[in-house]
Amino acid sequence: MRVVRSIADLRALLRPLKAEGKRIGFVPTMGFLHEGHGALIRQSAARCDATVVSIFINPTQFGPSEDLANYPRDLERDQNLCLEAGTSVLFMPDVNEIYPTGFQTHVEPGRLAETLCGRFRPGHFRGVATVVAKLFNIVQPDLAFFGQKDLQQTVVVRRMARDLNMPVDLVVVPTIREADGLALSSRNIYLNEDARGRALQLSEALLAAKAAFDGGEREADKLLKLAYSALAGVDSVQYLELVDVQNLEPIQGPVDKAAALCVAAYVGSTRLIDNVLLSPSAGDITQKS
Ligand code: PAF
Repeated sequence: MRVVRSIADLRALLRPLKAEGKRIGFVPTMGFLHEGHGALIRQSAARCDATVVSIFINPTQFGPSEDLANYPRDLERDQNLCLEAGTSVLFMPDVNEIYPTGFQTHVEPGRLAETLCGRFRPGHFRGVATVVAKLFNIVQPDLAFFGQKDLQQTVVVRRMARDLNMPVDLVVVPTIREADGLALSSRNIYLNEDARGRALQLSEALLAAKAAFDGGEREADKLLKLAYSALAGVDSVQYLELVDVQNLEPIQGPVDKAAALCVAAYVGSTRLIDNVLLSPSAGDITQKS
């Protein structure tokens, strides 16, 4: 595994691979990697000739009151995980490499970025879209791998890639969970024992609704009520929504298309998100750009 910090070095490494027609996979991350990232890297390594992983804590996607300064870091562990999972090139730029003095051009996503997390994190998806566009331009991957846990991010990025004619296909990889159901997240490190116990209610609520859906319940209201009633132990629910997985519009009445039940909640001061897909055909949301 080669570790590079500059765009020029990365491009120099990738140029001969591209010239030989090798398939490049890309896994963008903000570090503090866990098995969810491991699954993305492994999929890329299995499907591509070379896998580039980036670790870059992107300041433009954090709001003023969010956890940028304290975002967890462990570069040594990250490098080991990348190596074990099959990374060919690890790209770890510093902030000036990505946002040099004078930087002023951003990608402004549309309506898809205004619902769900976008309502509570203004500017977040603008920051995500901007850095992912830059990283796509730097790496020029054939396939890019994203986790389903950040479902809205996958929808916003896929739309951006299509709208801006970026020749990359997105692969959305199912969420990896602890044995008891908690979705893996870099932010789980903030949970103490009590909060960890209560955080479990997110996945329990979603999986209860999914079980009801699989058992034949189709009414959006009933599924939402069922999930909501299982969230009594969290400190506040930011949103719990049943949405069309393609356009993120809320579903009312019967669920008759690929849907996602999405939740964001605070447990103590930690904000967690999770989602489940509620349609047999929703499993494959990989789309060509
Ligand atoms: O999902 C993440 O870790 C980030 O939003 C991403 C895609 C690496 C962009 O900074």
